[in-house]
Amino acid sequence: MNTWKKLAVYVCGILLVCAMFSTVIMAGGPPLKDNTCGTCHKDYNTIMPKVHPDVGKGTPCLTCHAPDPAKNEPTKFSTNTHKVHQGEKTKLECSACHAL
Ligand code: HEC
Ligand code: HEC
Ligand code: HEC
Repeated sequence: MNTWKKLAVYVCGILLVCAMFSTVIMAGGPPLKDNTCGTCHKDYNTIMPKVHPDVGKGTPCLTCHAPDPAKNEPTKFSTNTHKVHQGEKTKLECSACHAL
């Protein structure tokens, strides 16, 4: 193999590794901003689903529903949050919640 072909193989290898890393990092979704829900929802009782374990008042949703980088499946919390803000009740930019 000549030098250029070798180089091309190396470059492809590096790109593949980079792609794999970014997939792993993004698996939990883009990082969320601090106090994500609290900036717009001062009263958590109004956004708590009707069917929900009793968690008391005023505990930020994300203390329990934190992104889990180990999981690839969106949680029900995540699905519900996106559904509500992507058309059902309002339409927000991704960057309203995610630090992009
Ligand atoms: C940039 C502002 C903004 C942010 C940030 C935000 N929301 Fe909302 N949310 C809204 C608006 C606007 C509505 C629609 C009006 C309403 O129902 O209050 C809404 C509606 C909701 C509803 C539906 C309430 C209903 O009436 O049934 C839920 C649930 C909800 N948000 C949860 C969340 C959660 C959980 C987070 C954090 C992950 C969050 N929101 C972050 C603006 C925001
Ligand atoms: C003290 C922990 C805790 C807090 C705080 C909390 N949750 Fe939950 N939530 C749970 C548990 C436990 C479940 C049930 C298991 C599951 O589905 O993950 C749940 C389930 C849910 C579900 C799925 C319900 C379904 O359809 O099965 C939604 C949506 C949800 N929570 C929204 C919220 C919102 C919005 C907030 C903030 C206002 C919030 N949660 C705060 C613990 C918590
Ligand atoms: C109202 C706040 C909010 C908005 C707006 C929002 N997200 Fe999210 N997103 C969340 C929350 C909360 C999670 C859940 C983190 C977890 O549990 O892993 C999440 C998780 C994700 C994930 C990880 C997979 C999953 O579903 O859990 C992806 C990918 C994602 N968001 C992409 C987007 C994109 C793209 C947009 C814009 C079209 C967007 N989000 C808008 C709050 C939001």
